[in-house]
Amino acid sequence: MTKVPDELPALRLKNVSASYGPDQKAAVQGIHLTIPRHGHTAIVGPSGAGKTALFSLILRFLEPTRGELLLDGRPYRAHTTPTSAPVSPTSNRTPPSSPTPSAETSCSPTPRPPRTS
Ligand SMILES: Nc1ncnc2c1ncn2[C@@H]1O[C@H](COP(=O)(O)OP(=O)(O)O)[C@@H](O)[C@H]1O
Ligand SMILES: [Mg+2]
Repeated sequence: MTKVPDELPALRLKNVSASYGPDQKAAVQGIHLTIPRHGHTAIVGPSGAGKTALFSLILRFLEPTRGELLLDGRPYRAHTTPTSAPVSPTSNRTPPSSPTPSAETSCSPTPRPPRTS
């Protein structure tokens, strides 16, 4: 794996706009944002400011209508999405567990003894 330079921002948004549909107004408009690799970044704003839309963009639940997002300096489109990532045929993963939960994994409450009153 290639080492990412420490000074390279983890995430950048360049003039990003997005909306929830073709006939919807912009949920966010013209965002320029740089998230450094270190420290903490707070996203603050009143209701409707676009915080959820911003995170939806970052998580790729929402596609920008303009602008671009860069992760480790590379546009999102250049990154492989986890769902399309190839699974190594030699990987030593255990098969999925049975759909019937075992006693240990069951979420059912422990049965109580009957009331005596
Ligand atoms: N599901 C949705 N469909 C259409 N518009 C939406 C939807 N969710 C939010 N919006 C609009 O997008 C804008 C940004 O909202 P949102 O990202 O939810 O703000 P915040 O999370 O900061 O409260 C607002 O104008 C809001 O009305
Ligand atoms: Mg929100």
